Amino acid sequence: MTFKLKHSRIAGTGSHLPEKVLTNTDLEKMVETSDQWIQERTGIRERHIAAQGETTVDLAVPAARRAMQAAGVEPDEIDFIIFGTCTPDQVFPNCGALLQDRLGIRNCPAVSVEAACSSFIYALSIADKFIRLGEAKCALVVGAETLSRIVDWTDRSTAILFGDGAGAVVLKPADEPGILSTHLHTDGFYKDLLYCPVGPSKGFHADESGRMPLFIHMAGNEVFKIAVKSLGSIVDETLAANGLDKSAIDWLVPHQANIRIIQATAKKLDMPMEKVIVTVAEHGNTSSASVPLALDAGVRDGRIKRGQLLLLEAFGGGLTWGSALIRY
Ligand code: UT7
Repeated sequence: MTFKLKHSRIAGTGSHLPEKVLTNTDLEKMVETSDQWIQERTGIRERHIAAQGETTVDLAVPAARRAMQAAGVEPDEIDFIIFGTCTPDQVFPNCGALLQDRLGIRNCPAVSVEAACSSFIYALSIADKFIRLGEAKCALVVGAETLSRIVDWTDRSTAILFGDGAGAVVLKPADEPGILSTHLHTDGFYKDLLYCPVGPSKGFHADESGRMPLFIHMAGNEVFKIAVKSLGSIVDETLAANGLDKSAIDWLVPHQANIRIIQATAKKLDMPMEKVIVTVAEHGNTSSASVPLALDAGVRDGRIKRGQLLLLEAFGGGLTWGSALIRY
């Protein structure tokens, strides 16, 4: 008797954004910038910012509930939780465990993964393996962030980019894929291009200027160029691994860092922008929340339909990047 691997499929999606909206006009009053510059260089018009005391897990709870409701899944059916974030509520317990408690789920493995903006794709890839190997039958996969907590609001080169939010999917087993393949990359050689340099081990000491360096630092232009190149090549890698032509893709669901990076990836795929889910104008860059937020937007407004082929991709600090090809 041969052992046939299962596949995983997305049974439901959900998302949540904090109430407060910070517009480009608001930012004009905080740093030397303009709505025109931000829109032209990034495509961002506004972003959502968590309220004081509102944490990453607070944002994840409603997103997870919506995904579970869409999947028709009760809390006691979830048997694996994986939570992608680089802005956890606390060092430990991990955000997966905190979310598990908030959802009233008892005794299933729950873990968080950190691969900066690629965390959700990494989490999705790991959950897919758990389902395929029969280790899980109902996985909750989350990408959630409160990036606003690690933004230097006096630095115009980064303050304009980031926002807060959460997205989630429920994965279940299926005889047909589902998730056709995932592809993950990291190149730590580029660790100094995009980073937040503090942690319990390294310490929380003030830098030379006397400020606590609990901030995102980014060599934006260099990151931009590597992002365009890496996402271009991961698109080729993903299509080649599945023996597919780019014309097979129905929807590109990209990481929402910059409209110009998204346009470059769409161009690589010969896709018109009408076939790309774009939320960057309203969300800004929400790091690991950005792909599941965009996915949920496309599903809920009816653009993404069952049976269609989706290409998800993300890129972030590490540098890390990844993709997932999904028959929705
Ligand atoms: O999600 C993780 C991955 N992150 C990314 O993928 C982000 C990648 N990088 C980017 O999206 C872009 O590089 C940025 C949007 C961050 C910057 O755009 P850019 O076209 O690369 O601009 P730049 O950094 O080359 O700066 C151009 C000019 C500079 O002025 P000078 O030196 O030409 O006089 C900057 O000082 O724009 C200036 N500038 C600004 N001006 C007004 C930088 N930030 C601002 C600002 N408002 N907010």
